[in-house]
Amino acid sequence: MQSLYRIAVLAGDGIGPEVTAEAVKVLKAIEEIVGPSFRFQSGLIGGCALDQTASPLPAETISICGNSHAVLLGAVGGPQWDSKRPELRPEQGLLQLRQRLGLYVNLRPVRVIDSLAGISALKADRVRGTDLVIVRELMGGIYFGNPRGIFAKDGERMGVNTEIYREHEVERVAHRAFQLARLRRRKVTSVDKANVLESSRLWREVVTRIGRSYPDVELRHLYVDNCAMQLIDKPTSFDVVLTNNMFGDILSDEAAMLTGSIGLLPSASLGEHSALYEPIHGSAPDIAGRNRANPIASMASAALMLRYSLRMETAAAAIEAAIERVLKRGVRTAELPGKKRPTTTTRMGDLIAEVTQKILKSAHSRRR
Ligand code: IPM
Ligand code: MG
Repeated sequence: MQSLYRIAVLAGDGIGPEVTAEAVKVLKAIEEIVGPSFRFQSGLIGGCALDQTASPLPAETISICGNSHAVLLGAVGGPQWDSKRPELRPEQGLLQLRQRLGLYVNLRPVRVIDSLAGISALKADRVRGTDLVIVRELMGGIYFGNPRGIFAKDGERMGVNTEIYREHEVERVAHRAFQLARLRRRKVTSVDKANVLESSRLWREVVTRIGRSYPDVELRHLYVDNCAMQLIDKPTSFDVVLTNNMFGDILSDEAAMLTGSIGLLPSASLGEHSALYEPIHGSAPDIAGRNRANPIASMASAALMLRYSLRMETAAAAIEAAIERVLKRGVRTAELPGKKRPTTTTRMGDLIAEVTQKILKSAHSRRR
């Protein structure tokens, strides 16, 4: 008997609702094959939450998420909220939710799908075979350190932020990276700026110490500037990339471009008791509401949810295989080059849901 999982759906702003609807579509398609599995409950976050409740993260949303096995999120933000006070920006909703749910590690897998190697910003030969995961620390560093603010001093204003890492914050995310590496190619690259920053020097020391408990995993350290260069020069040389909140934010957008489109990439944010899954792309207000956005990142995020939170590996792998198959057939959304008549968000979602069902059905009949 399949358990029933409660899933919080926070569609958010811009293209968030459109792409999240396709992720829900594929999950419902899976239910048709394996039986009732999910109970969806939606909540507000970001700009739409600000408009309706004056808070980017209403209390009701926190309680919905707290009562769920996993959270599926779309995207937050948009130009109409840019002028808001910092604590009233849509992004605050997401940053606060990461804190409230204790999501200290963010996994961002970047895999170049063979049939799409040609659309990469780099030459196909260079990116083919790229298969890495960025493990980004998500609850610490300069995003949250105090003091912070804009202060007056000596007749002018100064903007202040503080990068802080405590040992336990580095330890727990480092363990996650080494454990993940054991399921992959057993190679961790830890990224810091230890030639300049004390917080990075501590980071490197702690990662080296934790690494001793994983003698079967190879550990190397790179400075972040060098890593930014190596990602372009030798993307296939990376397996697990472990880094802090700020560097991880930047490097994951850079790494996304190896695949040619940020519209393809999912992410998982994990804590001890909660997990949140979201595309790494933003709310793309310029194409919102036009049925043009690529739903693949959101659907792939649903696959990560099945894998990491709900232990439904067969279904997770079926979504991922379906995405590859549909892309291999040449189906393309508008942001992917090479099609005069690109397909729509909903059509892409339909196709992937259909193929997912087909794959699952044949897996089931083989088992019988
Ligand atoms: C990301 C985003 C967020 C971040 C923003 C929206 C707060 O860029 O998830 O990468 O900086 O973490
Ligand atoms: Mg980012």
